[in-house]
Amino acid sequence: MSDTWTFVCPTSQLLPGEMKTVFDEVTDVPIVIFNYDGMFYALEDRCSHEDFELSSGSFDRTEGSIECLLHGARFDIRTGQALCAPAHLPVAKFPVKHENDGIWTRDDRS
Ligand code: FES
Repeated sequence: MSDTWTFVCPTSQLLPGEMKTVFDEVTDVPIVIFNYDGMFYALEDRCSHEDFELSSGSFDRTEGSIECLLHGARFDIRTGQALCAPAHLPVAKFPVKHENDGIWTRDDRS
């Protein structure tokens, strides 16, 4: 398993309610990172319904969910679980770490 972490941004550049997408340095998988009330979460930036990019949708900072722009499926950003149809499968969740005032993530499936 690769333990190469991908730099996202300085912590100060991802404020509560914001999200940012990066590509994993090893696998090139798109990852969307959320700041949900000061906690950071990372999901694969790909809807499990039809492979559309989740980061094009809207981040509900009250519920902690992201709604896919294409057909309206919602996912819990903390777990990746699908919350409503038409998606039924979860999206992959990835680890996040803070180090040296920065945010890092990685595709830990590789
Ligand atoms: S592609 Fe996301 S809900 Fe259909």
